[in-house]
This record gives sequence, C-alpha cells and structure tokens, in this order.
Amino acid sequence: MTEASALPDTGSAYDAVASLYAELFSDMLDALPLERALLAAFAELVQAHGGGPVADIGCGPGQVTAHLRALGSNTFGVDLSPAMIALARQAYPELRFEEGSMTALDLPDEVLGGILAFYSIIHLPPEQLPVVFTEFQRVLAPGGYLLLGFFAGPDAQPREFDHKVALAYRWSPDSLAELLAAAGFVEVGRLLREPHEGERGRQAQLLVRKPPRS
Ligand SMILES: C[S@@+](CC[C@H](N)C(=O)[O-])C[C@H]1O[C@@H](n2cnc3c(N)ncnc32)[C@H](O)[C@@H]1O
Repeated sequence: MTEASALPDTGSAYDAVASLYAELFSDMLDALPLERALLAAFAELVQAHGGGPVADIGCGPGQVTAHLRALGSNTFGVDLSPAMIALARQAYPELRFEEGSMTALDLPDEVLGGILAFYSIIHLPPEQLPVVFTEFQRVLAPGGYLLLGFFAGPDAQPREFDHKVALAYRWSPDSLAELLAAAGFVEVGRLLREPHEGERGRQAQLLVRKPPRS
C-alpha cells in the first residue's frame, strides 16, 4: 500500500468488516473500566466548559458515540467508512452520524466543545498527523478538549503493526504528545495500561486541550 492510497484503502477495509466489527465491539466498553474513566472525565470537562458539541471522529459503529451521549454530551459521529455510518445510524437512530475524513472535516471553525478520536488516528500515515491535529485545532472552540485512544509503542518513531483490518501504527504517548504540543494543544493527562488477555500490547489515551482565549 502506498501512503497516498492509505485513506481510501482504510475506508474500504472497514466497509468490508463493518458488520463483524460491530458484532465484536459493540459492548467493548463494558470490559474497559479505565477507558470509561477517561471518557467520563472528558465528558465532564467538556460539559464544565459550556457543553459544546462533541465529534466522535472515526466513530465506527457508534457505540462510543452513544456512550458519550449517555454521559450527557451532545455527541455526533463521523467516519470514513459508509458501511460503518450505516450501521451506526441503524443502531442509534436518535444520534447524528456523517461520512467524512478527519483530514478535512466538513465543520465550521471553532464549533466543537470536544473531539474524541478513539483508535482512529492509528491508521493515518505518520506525516498526516500534524495536518489532522491542525484540523482538530481549527474546529475546536478555545478551551475545547481532545481525547485520543491508541495502541502504545515503546519507540520514539511510530511503528507499523499487523492490525487485522488496515495498516496501522503504534505510537509512544510522548511522541504523540510532542506532535500535539507542536499543533498548539496543552496536555491535561494521559493513561497507559497493560494489555488485557487477548490484546496485543499496551493501550493509551491522551487528553489535551486547545488553550482557552485569554
Ligand atoms: C479501530 S476503528 C475504531 C472505531 C471506534 N472509534 C471504536 O472505538 O470502536 C477505526 C475507525 O476509524 C475510521 N477511520 C480511519 N481513518 C479515518 C479518517 N481519516 N477519518 C475518519 N474516520 C477514519 C475507520 O473507518 C474505522 O471505523
């Protein structure tokens, strides 16, 4: 796969497995208390800062979008894969889901109170991450929060690994935090946890904020 073709390939790779993915992962948060804790903190912080809309970008079948909505966040989902969006709309007809790519979001400037990207930046070629983080800065209101979930790696350089659906990268939390800081985000906190049975490595979350207007 060439890097230029990575995005369309990722979308069609997820189209091909969308039903299976939804079947396997719809209840995944039930077994992930640490992830739920960070999602709850994210939702609470966004609400404390005015409760602006939250975009779950790379939402897949929408289960985390619905979880955030249940926590009181005004959440909608965006995903590259039309099949994922169709499943999300079917499962959660009361929520909004749109096709789109995090590389060029169809959203006005400074409109969001929060962005969740839960295991979706993992598929971007590393050189595209600064572009995406700049895009996240553009659509977040000052003071808005961004929560990233990803596979953690030990190396300073992102490492490709054999993800079951599409080319993906493990990132060290420090390397991602540096890229986020370069894009203007300020770190709020992070989580690094050991793998559960059946997982192939450590899992991480990074919570950052676009600085409020002074
Ligand atoms: C591993 S799944 C995660 C889905 C969901 N967030 C979850 O936690 O179950 C990655 C999702 O990111 C989406 N995705 C990958 N690249 C994307 C991009 N550039 N823009 C929007 N969505 C993207 C894929 O289509 C897929 O649904």
